[in-house]
Amino acid sequence: MSGNRIAVLGAGVMGVGIATLATAHGLPVVLVDVDEAKLRTAPDRVATQLRMARLMGSAAKGSAAAIEVTTSIDDLADATAVIEAVTERPEVKAKVLADVSAVIAPGTPMVTNTSAIPVDELASTVARPGDLAGAHFMNPPYLIRTVEVIRGPRTGAAALSAILGLLAAMDREAVVVADCPGFVINRVLQRMINEAARIVQEGVASPRDVDALFRGCLGHRTGPLATADLIGLDNVADSLRVLRDRTGDAGYEPCELLLDKVAAGDHGRKTGRGFFDHGGVQS
Ligand SMILES: NC(=O)c1ccc[n+]([C@@H]2O[C@H](COP(=O)([O-])OP(=O)(O)OC[C@H]3O[C@@H](n4cnc5c(N)ncnc54)[C@H](O)[C@@H]3O)[C@@H](O)[C@H]2O)c1
Repeated sequence: MSGNRIAVLGAGVMGVGIATLATAHGLPVVLVDVDEAKLRTAPDRVATQLRMARLMGSAAKGSAAAIEVTTSIDDLADATAVIEAVTERPEVKAKVLADVSAVIAPGTPMVTNTSAIPVDELASTVARPGDLAGAHFMNPPYLIRTVEVIRGPRTGAAALSAILGLLAAMDREAVVVADCPGFVINRVLQRMINEAARIVQEGVASPRDVDALFRGCLGHRTGPLATADLIGLDNVADSLRVLRDRTGDAGYEPCELLLDKVAAGDHGRKTGRGFFDHGGVQS
């Protein structure tokens, strides 16, 4: 796909994973973050993940497309698509999406990788609400082929079709759903993680035993607490707050054990420890 330049906003867990996926499929990426340290390490993290993706047969061998990094939104003026993967805070996403939509050409498709914020809420902040949809990539994006695509009430047909085309170019399979807090996956998953953490908090079972039951009895490939560690416990707490605030459902109130772990810096795999010990920081 020549002539493409995919802007990926956020060089964290998901932004780097999405950049890996895009470059592995020949789509050049410009990666944006406010954190220069994150940007400095991003090309190496993409290279490591590319090696992993190839080892696991989910990316072709051969040369990947180029990756550039920048802290300046102005560098995105000629982007052909925008994928937003910044911190799960509504005000942060609203600002960055508004700023980007002011510099890109009208009709450039934009997607948010939000875990739980309704797409239409974010659409209100961009210059052209019809250009925005949700594309909820799972972690790691280069390994998990299915993407939950959210068509907001104002998402235009042209934007949706361009986004489905982009996902197909990256060999992803889209499942399109309507808009609501948490969509399908996180409306269920975040609550399940919170409840699993509460079970540990109450001393009913250890993290190991909770996950062993989900794997052994229900056939889940990963238990809820290992999944939480993979997502990042800070992100889980942010997503739960988004869900609590938008549904009024107390079941989404992040439990104390989860909040204690976030406050202690035990954010899961990315910091080396969460509900489980991961033996050092992982990219
Ligand atoms: N981690 C997961 O498993 C997962 C899965 C699906 C969706 N998501 C969603 O993807 C998004 C990113 O999550 P993550 O896990 O990568 O978080 P992360 O904390 O690893 O990374 C977020 C990045 O956004 C950057 N950022 C913050 N404000 C910014 C701004 N104004 N401009 C540019 N960059 C900015 C931060 O510096 C950080 O590098 C969130 O919306 C999250 O809910 C995460």
